[in-house]
Amino acid sequence: MMSKILVTGGAGYIGSHTIVDLIENGFEVISADDFSCSHKTVFNGIKKITGKDVVNYAIDLTNFDDTRNIFLENKDIAGVIHFAAFKAVGESTEKPLSYYHNNLTSLINVLKCIDEFGVKHFVFSSSCTVYGNPDEYCVTEDTPQKNAASPYGVTKQLGERIIEDYLHTSANSSAVLLRYFNPVGAHPSAQIGELPIGKPMNLVPAITQTAIGILPKMFVYGNDYDTRDGSCIRDYIHVCDIANAHTLALQYLINKNNQSNCEVFNLGSGAGVTVLEAIRAFETVTNQQLNYEIGSRRKGDVIAIYANNNLAKEKLGWKIKYDLNNMMQTAWQWQLHLKENG
Ligand code: WQD
Repeated sequence: MMSKILVTGGAGYIGSHTIVDLIENGFEVISADDFSCSHKTVFNGIKKITGKDVVNYAIDLTNFDDTRNIFLENKDIAGVIHFAAFKAVGESTEKPLSYYHNNLTSLINVLKCIDEFGVKHFVFSSSCTVYGNPDEYCVTEDTPQKNAASPYGVTKQLGERIIEDYLHTSANSSAVLLRYFNPVGAHPSAQIGELPIGKPMNLVPAITQTAIGILPKMFVYGNDYDTRDGSCIRDYIHVCDIANAHTLALQYLINKNNQSNCEVFNLGSGAGVTVLEAIRAFETVTNQQLNYEIGSRRKGDVIAIYANNNLAKEKLGWKIKYDLNNMMQTAWQWQLHLKENG
């Protein structure tokens, strides 16, 4: 029998790509997404790729009764992947209470249901932001965590802690916490991708929206850092590779390959790439010149961070399929798809 997986935030960027990967690997998926940060049309894209209509509960997970109702109606949920959260770093500094309320209440509600209904497997969407501004640029899962630079980051640090503390009390459930570095790119079919609401804050949507003419130009936030070309270093990783790691994490738990009931994995490519290198990769694969200028540093940016990803490769059997050029290519094809389809 197919295992039924509840994906919260299933209409979001990483959630939607993960639903596709789960379906392609034989899982049955239901979703919970209230479309507060996403669009209903995402499920059309998922259907075009997989042929499946995904049942979605358009509920607010901060409402406990509505959350519990999903579990009441689906007593056969074998696992939960919890993506649903607010994720705009800048906005979180302006609306900290809204971020703490939304991200933590929804997590606690989901965990309460996992406890009540005896759901065994849980995968949590965490972030490299939990490392804060690390002393070493290449981080392992054990690199000491510094203060998170934003309330958003604190919600991920606290989220991890809440799950760990809960699991100390649980004989039944196990979790995998996945710390994403910088997910970019889109599904190669160009049927789903990132849909930033308003002006994009992240680098790759800023690049593709500039190239297509939605934005007149973009800025490189600083070229006076102590890096090889002066711009910041990040670890960009294709969203489909991130998505597949969730499937592997569930299989890892289902097959009882985990040593403890709460394990953490970095999900990055393992390579540090500067902003200027990312722009150059985009220009090369799309064969066009990007209109950018060097601007001032952005507040809160860390100089450099990238993943040691050995643990995910060794224990989950994670294999990275997409390189930086593929990331830029698919991000661009998705931007073109959006233009053609209004
Ligand atoms: C990447 C680099 C910018 C836009 C954020 C979150 C982190 C995470 C991923 C969350 C930086 C530069 C950007 C632009 C630029 N995960 N940049 N011009 O800040 O590394 O990480 O997203 O869920 O928690 O903090 O990602 O894409 O915003 O920036 O020069 O117009 O691109 O300064 O060096 P970031 P980003």
